[in-house]
Amino acid sequence: MFFNSRKWDLKSIQSKPLLLLVALLLTVGCATTPLNTLSGQPQLQQSPIPSRIILNLTQTPASSQAVTWRTPSIATNSRAEIAKATGSPDFATKASTTPALNETVTLDDNSIVFSHSVVFKELTPGTLYAYRVGNGTVWSEWNQFRTAQNTFTPFSFVYFGDPQEQVKSLCSRTFRTAFSTAPDAAFWHFVGDLVDNGDKDREWEELFDAIGFIPRVTPMILVPGNHEYPDRRRIKGDAFRIFPLWRPQFTLPENGPKGLEETAYFLDYQGVRFIMLNGNEQLEVQAQWLETILADNPQPWTIAAIHQPIYSTGHRGRDHRRQELFVPIFDRFSVDLVLQGHDHTYARTKRLVSGQAIVGQNRGTVYVTSVSGPKSYPVNHRYDPLMEVTATGQQLFQVIRVDNNTLTCEAFDSAGNRLDKFQLKK
Ligand SMILES: [Fe+2]
Ligand SMILES: [Fe+2]
Repeated sequence: MFFNSRKWDLKSIQSKPLLLLVALLLTVGCATTPLNTLSGQPQLQQSPIPSRIILNLTQTPASSQAVTWRTPSIATNSRAEIAKATGSPDFATKASTTPALNETVTLDDNSIVFSHSVVFKELTPGTLYAYRVGNGTVWSEWNQFRTAQNTFTPFSFVYFGDPQEQVKSLCSRTFRTAFSTAPDAAFWHFVGDLVDNGDKDREWEELFDAIGFIPRVTPMILVPGNHEYPDRRRIKGDAFRIFPLWRPQFTLPENGPKGLEETAYFLDYQGVRFIMLNGNEQLEVQAQWLETILADNPQPWTIAAIHQPIYSTGHRGRDHRRQELFVPIFDRFSVDLVLQGHDHTYARTKRLVSGQAIVGQNRGTVYVTSVSGPKSYPVNHRYDPLMEVTATGQQLFQVIRVDNNTLTCEAFDSAGNRLDKFQLKK
């Protein structure tokens, strides 16, 4: 601020060596780590300012809301505050406090950071809340979110395929166009491969840079892709497990099969049952679990998500395993829509039952594959008879609106052009 208050004239500085020396000393002084006056050791200047603040939907989004954040040093009084939001700043006087759960996270460079999380509970449905996170001294800004209604109410959400590469450089515009195209989206839904190397914190940093303030105000639901896991070709057995950065960064439901907490789970949102499948491991266990939660599903609409496509348009070999396990269950319980990634293409099937297109009837499952990042693969045409649309080479996002009897999905590119639209009717 001080240096901005006056424009320095370089020539006049050069003509005044004493002034230059003073400026140099000031600069060096500012850049030097202060010494601890007692020990003479450099003091760490780590600030507990919360970063990577992200909302996640819970199993009960009408009455609870999860938030996770990071600090570089342990925040012993780590906590969050929440109040019903009003137009007046006085809302903050009515805030209540929830202590955070704290977790130590070792990064890939062996440095330590701290992850904090809170689940706000006993919230009122359909209500705008303001919250902040911090330690009682240092706080984030107040951010706002709205709880879900506890009845079947129309809403929109945004679905993204893999960002994965050049996330800051090239996915930022996808996220920003998505936010301006559907500013009222209830949440964003990612289906894996958020980064290329899920064990590299620098890549997650890029993702949080690219997505900006949006996860602070728009809750996220996510399933992991294969890039959030080590390479299966090199790691076998018990060592094949999700990279340790996934779970501390998010606070997702833990109502799926044992061992797949926060990676396979379900939640109900205003008339839709959302089912997250982890396409990387324990597929047989998940198939059994899927049957149980679909057999007891009171919601009129059902949407499943899995990273690896059931009918792949990618360059990889055909994998029958997910088809054999999941398609009979999707068919038996009339799952409406399956959201997928991994292929780095865009693909939308016709309504399918038992791997066959069903024409002219309001039944069958539509499988969509999409990609939000810049990496593209050519379309493999092995499933062409099942496909309504295939494309590649675009960075995309999908706005999905659920109304009483109609589900509408529109695919947009990062320039805001609509490339596909379809509707499912009940
Ligand atoms: Fe991918
Ligand atoms: Fe993938």
